[in-house]
Amino acid sequence: MIIVVGGIKGGAGKSTIAANLAVRRATEYQVLLVDGDDQETTTLWAATRSENFPDKSSHLTCIQLRGRGARDEVIKLSTHYQDVLIDVGGRDTTTQRAALTIANLVLLPLPPRGPDIWTLEKVSDLLDEVRTVNPNLVAWAFLNRADAGGTDNQDAMQIISDTPGIDLILPQIGDRKAFPNAHTQGLSVIENKPRDPKAIAELEGLYQHCFSTN
Ligand SMILES: Nc1ncnc2c1ncn2[C@@H]1O[C@H](COP(=O)(O)OP(=O)(O)O)[C@@H](O)[C@H]1O
Ligand SMILES: [Mg+2]
Repeated sequence: MIIVVGGIKGGAGKSTIAANLAVRRATEYQVLLVDGDDQETTTLWAATRSENFPDKSSHLTCIQLRGRGARDEVIKLSTHYQDVLIDVGGRDTTTQRAALTIANLVLLPLPPRGPDIWTLEKVSDLLDEVRTVNPNLVAWAFLNRADAGGTDNQDAMQIISDTPGIDLILPQIGDRKAFPNAHTQGLSVIENKPRDPKAIAELEGLYQHCFSTN
């Protein structure tokens, strides 16, 4: 399966989610994690990981691919991996468009905040265009950095549900320090110590939703 972790807003959690899902998937299968963002967050994460933990994740390979050419390279490489996860930049870039034309699934992490939610209409338009060449592309949005209380989560979920071409999925990832703590060390929350059982359970919920039928 080719999965793009996408969206057109920086800071939504794309790189964090891509790395965490990739590590979790690589506990069972060969996984390719592609950094398609010129900010290179995932490349730095991967470099930190291999420096600090050279023995970790023999099933996880990370590479950089940008621009239109990323499309053909991913198609070729995908035959060697069970899954390819592509982390893209927080804009409507050539790389993101190229990746979306070959993806089975685009995951859209969305903090329940106005500036993130306001991008949904544009993402919906982008997906509309992409589906002219990739009509089977599935788009799932979920709350990342969800609030522990209040009504913002519910409001955001309603707006996602009302957005054409994008389906709301119910797994949520809370706003938890475990995610940045693990990420800055080149780890996933499933590997970091001390363990944060809530963060791990949330990641597992998202993971099962994305991969259980594949
Ligand atoms: N669930 C979360 N809980 C707490 N912090 C998070 C969470 N997801 C992402 N972050 C933090 O938010 C910031 C942006 O995340 P990042 O994955 O780099 O976003 P993007 O790739 O979409 O720009 C980072 O500092 C990251 O550690
Ligand atoms: Mg990023």
